[in-house]
Amino acid sequence: MKLAVVFWVLGAGMAQAGFDSIEELGEALFFDVNLSQNRTQSCASCHNPDQAYVDTRQTDAGLAFSLGDDGESLGDRNAPTITYAREVPLFQVNDMGFYMGGQFLDGRAHDLAAQAGGPPLNPIEMGMPDKASVVLRLAENTDYVAALKAYFGADVADVEAAFDAMTQAIAAYERTDLFAPYDSKYDRAVRGDYVMTPQEALGQDLFFDKERTNCSLCHFGNEKPASAGELFTAHEYFNLGVPTNVPGRKANGVLVGKIDFGLLGNPEVNDVIEMGKFRTPTLRNVAVTGPYMHNGIFNDLRTVVLFYNRYNTDDPEWQINPETGKPFGWPEVPKTLAVRELTHGPALSNDEIDALVAFMETLTDARYEDLLQE
Ligand code: HEC
Ligand code: HEC
Repeated sequence: MKLAVVFWVLGAGMAQAGFDSIEELGEALFFDVNLSQNRTQSCASCHNPDQAYVDTRQTDAGLAFSLGDDGESLGDRNAPTITYAREVPLFQVNDMGFYMGGQFLDGRAHDLAAQAGGPPLNPIEMGMPDKASVVLRLAENTDYVAALKAYFGADVADVEAAFDAMTQAIAAYERTDLFAPYDSKYDRAVRGDYVMTPQEALGQDLFFDKERTNCSLCHFGNEKPASAGELFTAHEYFNLGVPTNVPGRKANGVLVGKIDFGLLGNPEVNDVIEMGKFRTPTLRNVAVTGPYMHNGIFNDLRTVVLFYNRYNTDDPEWQINPETGKPFGWPEVPKTLAVRELTHGPALSNDEIDALVAFMETLTDARYEDLLQE
């Protein structure tokens, strides 16, 4: 008892029972399987640090959906990268009157801390029955107990306070520069330390040129093209007409006819015009974070560009998904399709499509560049 008080009085700055900072505490929590019911799963199980924090475990649904801690449940959305997640603004209505930001693909968690409270209690993820049981697991670890007390004044006897402190610590870790290094070829080129290949440069021109592609209508946050810190998203919500992932749904047992409501599933949203819209994701690290779209329906980055391109041409050849050899499926939610944005601009040639892919590859953080060779 007395010892704990001494620790607390010594305060932050001192090593707190193994953790030098809140971020270090958050790191330990991020990798701790004890926060799941069967002690098999941590945040890192679905957000693998070796591959830009996406799920690299093959399941019956390929890489589209994640396996839960029970060893059998599969989710219905693809685990996104959490690199640069710290830059996603709070969920809000912007000055144009559109929803933007928020964590999760439907923005239902306002910020990283709110998000971090979700997976431990999600029955098909880490599967803990309630906050109290999560806090009991925290209490098993005397280093956690000391650090939660020292950094947050949170006693593990107070379930709400301890759970909340846990989420704050995880969020603090996710806000470190490890998750947002801004050191891709793109960033190096902006700083003058890298010269884009002609193909990459063509891709960059196409990407930012609103006369030739529509990409920057949605995947562009800054005022001026090719600026440092660009996240390649304005964080707004759109329905791109992504088809249902039928093989994925066969594997996870969700009815093929079920609609993923997207933004409309966010408890703060109740207008049906938001049905089937998802937050425009960052394109940083996109070349190493497949499969793509909220339901992981496309495996190759090139297929994503072909998917967009078919909205700008009637040529039947361009309607084929090369991954299936069949036409791209029907939109899961046809009514709210972003027709105006998607049909903006001329169709692209094969060379232009390759250039866009090459440009997106330059958005890979230095630590993941070796994955591109594969
Ligand atoms: C079973 C797999 C799984 C586990 C375990 C898991 N996640 Fe996730 N994570 C996902 C999926 C799937 C999504 C997208 C879900 C959605 O949008 O509804 C997601 C979304 C996120 C997001 C939002 C990213 C964005 O762009 O909106 C963050 C941040 C995140 N997870 C962090 C964590 C943290 C922190 C933990 C541990 C406390 C964790 N995840 C545990 C699968 C998982
Ligand atoms: C109307 C807005 C809009 C336009 C135009 C647009 N995107 Fe997107 N993009 C989105 C949204 C929203 C998503 C997520 C959709 C989903 O998950 O259902 C997305 C997803 C993606 C993905 C998959 C990301 C991932 O992690 O799964 C890539 C790659 C991509 N877009 C590239 C592009 C390129 C290249 C262009 C131009 C050819 C473009 N986008 C045009 C809004 C847009």
